[in-house]
Amino acid sequence: MKGLTIIGSGSAVPNQVLSNQDLSSIVDTSDEWIESRTGMKERYVSSAQESLAQLAAKAAINAISMANLTPEDIDLIILATSTPDDLFGSACQVQNIIGAKRAVAFDLTAACSGFVFALVTASQFIRQGVYRNVLVIGADVLSRWVNWEDRTTCVLFADGAGAVVCQSHETKDNFLGFELCSDGTQNSSLNLAYMGTTHNLLENISVGSGSYQTINMKGKEVYRFAVEKVPEVIEKALHRSNLTIEDIDWLILHQANQRIIDSVATRLGLDKQKVISNISKYGNTSAASIPLALDEAIRQSRIKPGDIIAISGFGAGLTWGAAIFCWGGSN
Ligand code: COA
Repeated sequence: MKGLTIIGSGSAVPNQVLSNQDLSSIVDTSDEWIESRTGMKERYVSSAQESLAQLAAKAAINAISMANLTPEDIDLIILATSTPDDLFGSACQVQNIIGAKRAVAFDLTAACSGFVFALVTASQFIRQGVYRNVLVIGADVLSRWVNWEDRTTCVLFADGAGAVVCQSHETKDNFLGFELCSDGTQNSSLNLAYMGTTHNLLENISVGSGSYQTINMKGKEVYRFAVEKVPEVIEKALHRSNLTIEDIDWLILHQANQRIIDSVATRLGLDKQKVISNISKYGNTSAASIPLALDEAIRQSRIKPGDIIAISGFGAGLTWGAAIFCWGGSN
């Protein structure tokens, strides 16, 4: 079995900034309500001309460059997204944009848990010795799927992309443990469902034809699910890593709500200084939120090589998961 190191990170956001103040002129809300309930101040949203693939590609190039590799060194690209430009998947578009000619590329959908699920998937290919350099991207453009008349959801979601480069290693193994979970019985708590209308092909044969609805969420249910399940899944991932919470240098949760982040940290008994949050600037960017926060903290030199990081994602599906790793090529 090979070991795994995480040797590069990158991120990207679209150009347009949408503040709480801006939102208060779109729906009946206020800066005070949004900030006190969620911790969000502003977020980035893509224009109709900007693509998910371009955003993901920018984050990918930044990560590959930090890893001191070229796109042609990449063997596998996993794009975690729920908002591809193409329903058949956008990973191959990213492969084309960055010029990763040798890479196999596919999408992975696990909503806001997508980055954690994709990183774990990457680790399996690396451990088995199948691929050496794997690019894992979390990218979403949820602004396309928000109902901009629904104040209970439109103030939360935003756009962004983050990426890491994982590399196999003969002796070092910096991917320490993980735990993934799904519960389809709670699917209706948070979904973006297909909206079919009947299209009659022949007298006795019809097909569905249609599009998708907008994001539908039962906020309180999702909140309760997150504060209960996230500490649990982190503790399981720590157990699998033979670590305890005291061993963790940094906790990066999916950036859905500052109150969820605070509550999880308290339940885990983790010092607030070790919790990374950038939700005030970015809002909930779904699969992008963890790698965006990770990349920002690495580039600010808050996270240093050798630091042990716990990440945890949760969201639609419902899905949730956690992974523990050590940043950088050495430890
Ligand atoms: N601006 C102003 N008022 C708002 C509002 C907004 N944007 N959205 C809702 N309200 C109102 C509600 O209508 C309600 O009014 P009422 O008391 O007159 O009925 C009041 O604010 C309280 O709403 P409530 O839903 O109880 O608020 P909350 O404290 O539960 O916060 C969320 C709402 C959505 C912020 C919170 O439930 C949450 O974060 N849930 C998790 C969502 C999440 O993380 N989803 C993504 C997971 S990946």
